[in-house]
Amino acid sequence: MKRILAAAALLALLLGGCAARGEAQREERLIRVGFSQVGSESDWRMANTASMIDALSEKNGFELLFDNAKQHQENQLLAIRNFIQQDVDYIVLAPIAESGWDDVLQEAKAAGIPVIIVDRQIAVADEDLYTSWVGSDFLAEGQRAIRWLEQTVQQQGRLSEPLRILHIQGTDGATAQLLRTKALDDAVRTHPGWQIVARLQGEYTEAKSYELVRDFLSTGEKIDVIYSENDNMSFGAIRALDEAGIRCGTDGDVLLISFDAVRQALELCMEGKINVCVECNPLHGPRVAALIEQLEAGETPAKLTYVDETFFSADILNEALIQKREY
Ligand code: AHR
Repeated sequence: MKRILAAAALLALLLGGCAARGEAQREERLIRVGFSQVGSESDWRMANTASMIDALSEKNGFELLFDNAKQHQENQLLAIRNFIQQDVDYIVLAPIAESGWDDVLQEAKAAGIPVIIVDRQIAVADEDLYTSWVGSDFLAEGQRAIRWLEQTVQQQGRLSEPLRILHIQGTDGATAQLLRTKALDDAVRTHPGWQIVARLQGEYTEAKSYELVRDFLSTGEKIDVIYSENDNMSFGAIRALDEAGIRCGTDGDVLLISFDAVRQALELCMEGKINVCVECNPLHGPRVAALIEQLEAGETPAKLTYVDETFFSADILNEALIQKREY
């Protein structure tokens, strides 16, 4: 009898142990996230990738499947289909452009995988195809740049004088391009003297912008302002201007407006080479992780979340401020 009781106690202990281990394994299960990133076209994008990888790490309870689409939408479509096949728990998409997502997101929906959009937005017929979006208010960024330009030319006493603007655009159809362009177009409509002398498709890269601005300057056309839709394209423009012997910035003949406010651009702004850096915050990793945690807890996160942003000009910048920034 004693022996039977001892065996029963041992069995109970073993079963209890297994149950506890099962419980612990359940608790330790990583949340599998497939993330389709646009590419590595800019310093902003590199900071964004680093933020996502850091936040969606194993130590934070995630298994991240990362795909770099190298600025091609077809690669993003392939990556999403691959994530669906691998039956991930969540898909996170940083879309290259707004359109072209309906079919693939229908497939994700049919597979029961929630989709979170980050950075740029998407235009889909059925808004239920994605759960949540987090990113920048790109129109507000553009309007911030325009207000700075209005105030600057007003202080210089030339608000109603002709202003020849060279516009360097980001990837066609990306929310950042569409809305920063809209802010400029709206301003040109309300200022009769403002004129866009050329629009260059710089694709958010330094190399492309350098080539295009260099070729443009070789025509001899005069400009007063460069409205550059990201910092890396500004770096390319500065190189082309330097080579052409044209000075930009606070003591120059061309006002340079730049978007993103990455560290190198802020340094150039402090030196007076860039007049204004309009901030675009790339640190979305913790925001995306928080959205997933809300969904895991059965909560309904906000459909759209806009991050707070500002702008920087030389008069407010100093080395300590720049070094404190995370990107
Ligand atoms: O969508 C955000 C934009 O994409 C940033 O301004 C740019 O640098 C990046 O490539």
